[in-house]
Amino acid sequence: MDDLSRRALALLRANRRAGRSARLGRDYAYTSPSPGMYAPQFFWDSCFHAIALAGLEPEWAKRELRTLVSVQRPDGFLPHVIFWTWDWWPPLYWAYTQSAPALRPRMTGMIQPPVLAYAAQRVVEHTGDRAFGAQMLPALRRYHDWLRRERDPDDDGLLSVVSPFETGMDWLPPFDLALGLPPEANDARRWLAYRSLDVRHMLARYRSGAMLARFDVEDVAFNSIWHEAQLSLATLARALGDGGAARRETDGASRTRDAIVARCWDDEAGAFFSLAGRDERKLRARTIAGLLPLLLAGLDARYVDAIVRQIDDPHAFGTPFPLPSVAVGEPSFRRGESSFIWRGPAWLNTNWFVARGLMKHGRERQARRIARSTVALVERSGFREYYDPFDGRGMGARGFGWSTLAVDLLPWAVDGRDDR
Ligand code: GLC
Repeated sequence: MDDLSRRALALLRANRRAGRSARLGRDYAYTSPSPGMYAPQFFWDSCFHAIALAGLEPEWAKRELRTLVSVQRPDGFLPHVIFWTWDWWPPLYWAYTQSAPALRPRMTGMIQPPVLAYAAQRVVEHTGDRAFGAQMLPALRRYHDWLRRERDPDDDGLLSVVSPFETGMDWLPPFDLALGLPPEANDARRWLAYRSLDVRHMLARYRSGAMLARFDVEDVAFNSIWHEAQLSLATLARALGDGGAARRETDGASRTRDAIVARCWDDEAGAFFSLAGRDERKLRARTIAGLLPLLLAGLDARYVDAIVRQIDDPHAFGTPFPLPSVAVGEPSFRRGESSFIWRGPAWLNTNWFVARGLMKHGRERQARRIARSTVALVERSGFREYYDPFDGRGMGARGFGWSTLAVDLLPWAVDGRDDR
């Protein structure tokens, strides 16, 4: 095993939590994103951990995903945070502003980007374990059906999020626009606008209709991930002989892709944007979310070119350590530590999405460049939560689980010409 993989595995083991939860009445085994800061199980973090573990310690990748789906509600819902054990700090705000009111909530009432089917498919691919695939399939089908039923109110193939925190890219500037905050709004006002929305959802007991009436964003990153998830589930279903599910998911993936291209693309700006409200107002701020349509299978080359131009542009995403979460030319871009964590720093998971997307479309040179700089970030600064896109300094939580995704990019970082 190479050194990076060894260090990644050591971190994932150190963050591991397993046992029996008295609160939920069942066994659990998951990787905490960063025990000091994010102790509970987080939905998309767990999927990323499983992807990294698939090649390192596949039995634990399976346990991580099994634990995640073990709390699925009969209607198919899967939460974004699960409190297997109880630590008063830090889960306080997920427990008391993002979960149904209870003295000791067990899970939140919100979701995170649907990376689960892709993660399950990767684990099956690595292990060839059809029994594991067959075990995941019903949960995945129910989960995708829940998303379509509850979160696509206008039935256009694009899912809606009801809170910025559901995108996993909390505080990304387009949400300011969706919340009606003026550009000069100060941090306190911003904090209050984001948090009070979640409190109102809590009081509405997370009923989709009530939440969507307050906040309805068709997020371009969330939906690009959704497109890929449907294709992954189709592949899994086909391999397991479930032709009906395979067809449904393939059709769904095409609808999602076509809707992203038709509705989120802005010809004038030459960029993809998220949409707000029933009238699908474009949220015109250039962020990492607008690069994720690279995940769309069969995306026309003109859109790929437009995204690559932004990636190469030093005034957008072409920083010395790409990719900043907000284009550096945007007035909302921030450098350095801040509580508003998705307003500038580079994150490993988004680098991983973009590098894979570039590879999908044969943009090998750019994909390798991002893979190399991702590995360089970890080598230089360790597995941190996020990094300064100019000097590669590590920031936020330490020993951060999903930054081990760098191991998945390693083959692209070491092979081939060095054309940086
Ligand atoms: C932060 C991130 C979110 C992640 C969580 C746990 O809140 O914005 O995406 O799931 O931390 O790592």
